[in-house]
Amino acid sequence: MSNIPVDVELTFAEPAAHIAVEAGKLIRGFYESDVATEYKGEVDLVTEADRSSERLIRERLLARFPEHGIFGEEGTRDRLEGEYRWYIDPLDGTTNFAHRFPVFSVSMGLERRPKGLAAEEDGELVAAVVYDPMRDELFVAEKGLGAYLNGRRMRSSSVCDLSEALLATGFPSRKRHENPNIHLYQEITLRSHGVRRAGSAALDLAYTACGRFDGYWEFNLNAWDTAAGALLVTEAGGSITRFDGSPFRLDSREVLATNGLLHKEIMYLFGEMFAGRGLESIPTPAEFAAKRASRENGGKK
Ligand code: IPD
Ligand code: CA
Ligand code: CA
Repeated sequence: MSNIPVDVELTFAEPAAHIAVEAGKLIRGFYESDVATEYKGEVDLVTEADRSSERLIRERLLARFPEHGIFGEEGTRDRLEGEYRWYIDPLDGTTNFAHRFPVFSVSMGLERRPKGLAAEEDGELVAAVVYDPMRDELFVAEKGLGAYLNGRRMRSSSVCDLSEALLATGFPSRKRHENPNIHLYQEITLRSHGVRRAGSAALDLAYTACGRFDGYWEFNLNAWDTAAGALLVTEAGGSITRFDGSPFRLDSREVLATNGLLHKEIMYLFGEMFAGRGLESIPTPAEFAAKRASRENGGKK
């Protein structure tokens, strides 16, 4: 496969990448035909593409790594007592898929859980694959070996001021009427180049890893949404934590990922908003321009 790095040996990510690409092609086939959408909860959608993709990934992983556990969004719970566990989102972005908006992905993240680790503790993320079948883009990473987009090393961006950043977020489908994210969205949108809401958390994290986005946050995600993307971000040089800067966990109900340089500024704004304190007023376009000019002059007026 041409889009795998050739000069590093990726023990887990390479076989998983072949599986993700195969699953992605399957999804794309469904996308090009007409596939029925069902509700699997009050507001959550599911399709035959989600289920078929998970079935395929499950079979292929079992054949390649018979000892490994699998925890999949569509219900797979296999061998969860083992040392390795894959978190699988067989189709991240089902709402987009169902509405024929071409932004969705396959996400596979591998956790190593040393013997004796308590059930509620996280192991270490060791391999990651996110595949976008519409653009044929493959994001892979392995612990300590870097992150790659279509075989080329990727790094998070160098933007260090929120006012010049492009960010992403998403809105949870469940309990969305109680979620405060619209307020964060408004503030960050008006203080930056903008906030995209494209609808695939795994791709949002992959784009943060490769520098298309400078930061991304979301509430109420699951391990299958974030396991792969979290390792992509850290292996590309970025940071991922909860909103208060405490360590990211697979069951974190908050995720803040950035290029590392913007982390403090965003954490500060979120902290002030959650505390109910008023923020400094949003700079006018003229103030934005003056700040940029001053930075370009090395801080001199
Ligand atoms: C969803 C997507 C979306 C995010 C949702 C997720 P799904 O996953 O990642 O971007 O905003 O919260 O549930 O349901 O399409 O796999
Ligand atoms: Ca998902
Ligand atoms: Ca999904």
